[in-house]
Amino acid sequence: MKSAKLNILHARQLLTIAGPARARRGPELRELGIIQDGAIAIRDGVIEWVGPTDKLHDRTAPEFDASGKVVLPGFVDSHTHAVFASTRGDEFEWGLQGVRYMDILAGGGGILSSVNAGRQSPALRVRFADQFLKHGTTTIEAKSGYGLDLETEIRMLEAMRLEPGLDVVSTYLGAHALPPEFRDNRSGFVDRVIDDLFEIQARRLAEFCDVFVEPGVFTPAEAIRIFGKAKSLGMHIKIHADEFQSSGGAALAVEMAATSADHLGAISDSDIGRIAASRVVATLLPATLFMLGQNQYAPARQLIDSGAAVALASDFNPGTSPTLNMQFVLSLACTQMRMMPAETIVASTINGACAVRRQDRLGSIEPGKQADLAIYDVADYREIPYFAAVNFCVATFKRGELVWGAK
Ligand code: NIG
Ligand code: FE
Repeated sequence: MKSAKLNILHARQLLTIAGPARARRGPELRELGIIQDGAIAIRDGVIEWVGPTDKLHDRTAPEFDASGKVVLPGFVDSHTHAVFASTRGDEFEWGLQGVRYMDILAGGGGILSSVNAGRQSPALRVRFADQFLKHGTTTIEAKSGYGLDLETEIRMLEAMRLEPGLDVVSTYLGAHALPPEFRDNRSGFVDRVIDDLFEIQARRLAEFCDVFVEPGVFTPAEAIRIFGKAKSLGMHIKIHADEFQSSGGAALAVEMAATSADHLGAISDSDIGRIAASRVVATLLPATLFMLGQNQYAPARQLIDSGAAVALASDFNPGTSPTLNMQFVLSLACTQMRMMPAETIVASTINGACAVRRQDRLGSIEPGKQADLAIYDVADYREIPYFAAVNFCVATFKRGELVWGAK
């Protein structure tokens, strides 16, 4: 539907998520701004007007009938590793047989197996970009980190620029694991990551710098060195923090004024308070722990009730989270972390946008925002997490253009 103008009409529930362009906390996480029989007027890819269908004045534009359906802002999936060269079904089986994820990594597999594949692949790209759109996700963040050498890291970051449909926000994760050639030279590797930051920034390849801070991977002290340089070059910070063990990652995120601290499966009680009192977005990734078969999830309720800005993302990657379906992530957030359906929607739209610093342009259906929308064939928004693991997204609009679904 290529047209400068478009009206979407008669949405049974139009979830605007209207409000200030900042992260929502506490009770704000349940404010969906629902309009019954809602309409949206779009012009040149931007939302011009939002309200009840009977108040829509200009009826000359092409129309899309959303009768009986629920309309949401496109999901902003703020944490993925969507550029990878090969899948890891073998390790999935090892995990089922009881081998722990961190032990696979320590043995040279896991992330390092993806690094091996990434270095050898001549054609790295964002995987399944069309599937993200089909499942209602219109923006993703994607991380490098399956190269761990400058040449491959650059190729990963360049691949993120090539997606025509999906918006991809890029993050340099040069310190995702210690590559085999630096096995006996940790500080040499950290020095190299810091050196490479100059080249990454000179080519404007990444907005964010991330480090996997976890026992057996990188320490807070090593991360501080990398983040210090990244910040001095004008990059923003994200951290893989306290994924399996509490090791200071969340506290470091606060200290570094990171944009987000991600995972937090093992965050300590005192760090919950620190994150809640800060501007750091707490990005929770329940699909990771679900697919690893773990039963210890991030303390979403405690975080929300303490006032933290909670976001949800898929962590889509070939090792720990082979799902990109945010509707399913919402189901897991409800059943495994006791989030309310409304909270999961705010956490994956406006709060996801905050986690990639796009809250002025994305994450809600309001005049002036980019017309990124998804339409679900359900009668009530709660049915999105409730009908688990099935795709109910029947149409997706990116900048006002239909990129998935039938006219
Ligand atoms: O977020 N924890 C580190 N990185 C990813 C996993 C990447 C992989 O296993 O390939 C994560 O879980
Ligand atoms: Fe991750």
